Amino acid sequence: MLIAIPDVLSPAEVARVRTIIDAGSWVDGNATSGAQSALAKRNAQLPEDSAAAREAGGIVLDALGRSALFVAAALPLKVFPPLFNRYAGGQDFGLHVDTAVRVKRGSDFRIRSDLSATLFLEDPADYDGGELMIEGQFGPQSVKLPAGHMVLYPASSLHRVMPVTRGTRTASFFWLQSMVRDEESRRILFDLDQAVQAVSVDKGLADPSVVHLTGVYHNLLRRWADV
Ligand code: NI
Repeated sequence: MLIAIPDVLSPAEVARVRTIIDAGSWVDGNATSGAQSALAKRNAQLPEDSAAAREAGGIVLDALGRSALFVAAALPLKVFPPLFNRYAGGQDFGLHVDTAVRVKRGSDFRIRSDLSATLFLEDPADYDGGELMIEGQFGPQSVKLPAGHMVLYPASSLHRVMPVTRGTRTASFFWLQSMVRDEESRRILFDLDQAVQAVSVDKGLADPSVVHLTGVYHNLLRRWADV
């Protein structure tokens, strides 16, 4: 399941994040890559332990916690600290798959990457190319979203970033471990959550059928969640 989550950051928050990261010291993006990714990756990145990445990452994490759509779709257990990258002058990231287990350097924090996320931090009118192409069950999907919007997709999927031929593509990216490991189970829970919410708008949260369906949701989550 690929899901676009609009307005994770407000325009003011995008501006704040950009002010912080644009003043940071950028390095070659291969700092975070595995051997295979390093062959395909051409971009710049903020060092993950830099003050700028930590401060801007904190703003992103706070925003994620406020997004009901993100929480419902991801059912996050552990989120890797957000990282930041940018592409310019024809840079791209060839077809690859993300590393299954991510370890935060110098700590014992590690996650299984169930979901990958890209949070766009640049107005799409200001650069050409830079689409995130995600291979899915129904063929490749091209994603290029307004600044502040985010895409969430299975970390198991092959994906690439197309060459940026004009301007700069700036984004935050990160991985997370979900409470529900199985992709299909997570999708069913998300569908049910969205359906219950739609019904509750019509009938009210206290309606017996809404209470019943909410119970079904939680019982499935109880069955499938590892926490
Ligand atoms: Ni990737």
